[in-house]
This record gives sequence, C-alpha cells and structure tokens, in this order.
Amino acid sequence: MDTGTAYDRPQPSYRKELTEVGAGTPMGELLRRYWHPVGMSSTFDSTPSKVKALGEDLIAFRDGQGRPGLVYPRCAHRGTTLYYGKVEERGIRCCYHGWLYDVEGHCLEQPCEEGGGARRDRVRQPWYPVEERYGLVFAYLGPPAKKPVLPRYDCLEELAPGESVEADDSSIGSGGPQIVPCNWLQHWENVVDPFHVPVLHGSFSGPQFTAQMGIMPEVTFESTARGVKVISLRTLEDGKVHRRVTEVVIPTLRVVPDPLVQRFQKVESIGWTLPIDDTHYRIYTAGRVTERGALGKIRSRLGGRRWHELTEEEHRQFPGDYEAQTGQGPITFHSEEHLAASDKGIALLRRFLETQLKIVAEGGDPAAVAFDESGAYVRFDAGNYLVDAARAA
Ligand code: FES
Ligand SMILES: [Fe+2]
Repeated sequence: MDTGTAYDRPQPSYRKELTEVGAGTPMGELLRRYWHPVGMSSTFDSTPSKVKALGEDLIAFRDGQGRPGLVYPRCAHRGTTLYYGKVEERGIRCCYHGWLYDVEGHCLEQPCEEGGGARRDRVRQPWYPVEERYGLVFAYLGPPAKKPVLPRYDCLEELAPGESVEADDSSIGSGGPQIVPCNWLQHWENVVDPFHVPVLHGSFSGPQFTAQMGIMPEVTFESTARGVKVISLRTLEDGKVHRRVTEVVIPTLRVVPDPLVQRFQKVESIGWTLPIDDTHYRIYTAGRVTERGALGKIRSRLGGRRWHELTEEEHRQFPGDYEAQTGQGPITFHSEEHLAASDKGIALLRRFLETQLKIVAEGGDPAAVAFDESGAYVRFDAGNYLVDAARAA
C-alpha cells in the first residue's frame, strides 16, 4: 500500500518564537533591543506619515527645527490619530483640540484649557527615540534603560575618494516590490542559502546575475559573534578563485556583496530586513556609491527586465526571490520542512537566534548591543574577492 499521500498529513505549524515580532513576543523583545531603520530621512518631513515597524503603527514627522519625531498615533487627549496633525516649529499639533506635542511626546500646549493647560506636563504622548544616519532614520522601540549606541559599519564609514553613501527604500534584494507579503525570516534565511543562487537565479530562471554566479559553489558556513557567515568559492576559467563572503548580522542585516560582481572588493552595501508585522517586511539599504542612483542598479533582472515590468505569465517563467519566498506562504510551516546538509546556514542562524532569545529571556544583553561608541563599530568580512587557488580556503 502506498503511504505518504497528502490525505493524512499532520496539521502544519510554524515556530512563533522565531517569526512573530509584536511587543511582548520573544522575538519582538529580542528585536526591540536594537535600532531599526523606519524610513528614509526624506520620509520624515512636515507632513505626518504612517510608519509600521515590528507590528506597531506609528506617525513620523519632522518639526520646524529639523528634528525627526516618531510617535504613537492615538492622541493622548481623546485618541484621534496624529496622522491628521499639523507639524509646527516645536512639534506636532493634533487636529481635534489642538494639543501640541514635541518629538519626545511632551505636551507643550492645550489651547482649550485655561492658560494653555496648567497640568499639561502630566501628559506624555508615547514616543520613540530616533537617530539619523546614512540617509535613513533609525528608531529604538525597546526598553529605554537598554538603549544601545546606534552602530557604525566599516563598509559605510571607510570611503574611497569619490565615494559617498546613499540610501534606498525600494527593498533591494527582495526580488519584488517595496513591501513583501511574507514573514521577514523567510527573507533573512535566504541570505545564508547560497545553494539557491545557481538554481533559482542560475539554471531555473537565469542567469539573473552574472554567468559565474551560476557555477555551483564550494561552500563553508560559520557562526560568528553577530550571526552567520557563508563563504562560497567558485573556480573561474583562468584558474583564479572567486571568494564570496556573505553575512547575516543581528538584528536583521543582510550583508550581501554585489551579485553582479562588478568589482572585487569589500561589501558595498547593507540591507536591513525590517519586519513591518508578522506577515510583511521591507528592506532599507545603504551603500557606497560613486554616482547617485547606483544602488538601484544592483537589483536583479529576470529575462533582462525588472520585477514590476513582468506579467504574471512571465513571473511563472522567471521566478526569483520574491516568488520563492512568498511562495512559502505568509509564514512558512516549519513543521513540514526537511532541512538537508545544504541548509546548514539556516540551521546555524536559527540556533544563533535561539541563543539570543534565551539571553534576553534570562535578563541579559543579546549579541552585538554596545553601550559605548567604540563597541558600536562593526567590521564585516563580507565581499567579493579574487584569490589564488592556494589561498582560497
Ligand atoms: S484628541 Fe487630540 S487634542 Fe483632543
Ligand atoms: Fe536570491
């Protein structure tokens, strides 16, 4: 008798502790111990805008003094949204009764109260700290006493003459639109899955990058203090070896060297895989460029065209990262997986995250949070390097 039919398959389930990001969940609390980009610097302007991060709806604005602000949407007075507020020199004013809040939620005016509100200092609009760097605005959604220093990254700090840093919010690396409808971890795990490159991006619908990325690599996976590192070796026609190092770094960094391998050098850009909520993510990127707009050019092409230029029929012909990862469902069922030897990067990443969850649950500080500037400088190994065969390993 045949067994293994779909008829009696077990009820599927996913690992909540690794995927769910809301406040109070284990992963939500781990991720809340780090800074996350929540917008481009240009998103924060004199018109309030909606921002969603780690399952929280927030309002972004920039006051007349140029300070970015990020506040809880419901006005502390009687709860209408500050989305319809007006931004002024000193902060954001609610449309309903005109209470004015500064970027740290202090209530500065209550125009309907006598004397502008004698007890206004008892009111605080819930807010989050933000800091700007690399053309992005980073927010810290965690416990105030545990706020780390916003890190600096060597690949964005050590610039050659003529280079500058540019930011991008189009979700470079997602293989699809700006907002991707699946769990963030599906994408993040993909970064340490080098074997999908020659298949999905090579023989299946490629070459989506360059021909040499279609070569099946020889791969080593390593745990690092901050995440997982993947070293892929490809022997080229001239006998030299292309040594490609990719990293994932806590909290959500994808440290992926240019897949078009335009130059052999240290990684050019970092992408932050921001969980919008449990079933949506987007990627903010910052990278070194020599001309404005260069970052967007590293986006993958399918049959020579960009994702949004393809019809559904063509997406079936040229599936990419977006199709493969959203194809796993809104949150993939871990109970139905069969991890194999080539999935070692994924196993190492999950183990790393489990360790960090345990540290936070026990009251400790997770990996790579730094409370002084010197500890907050991050050096990567990631890059595309050309080496002699003897030095490759
Ligand atoms: S609800 Fe905002 S001022 Fe009244
Ligand atoms: Fe990919």
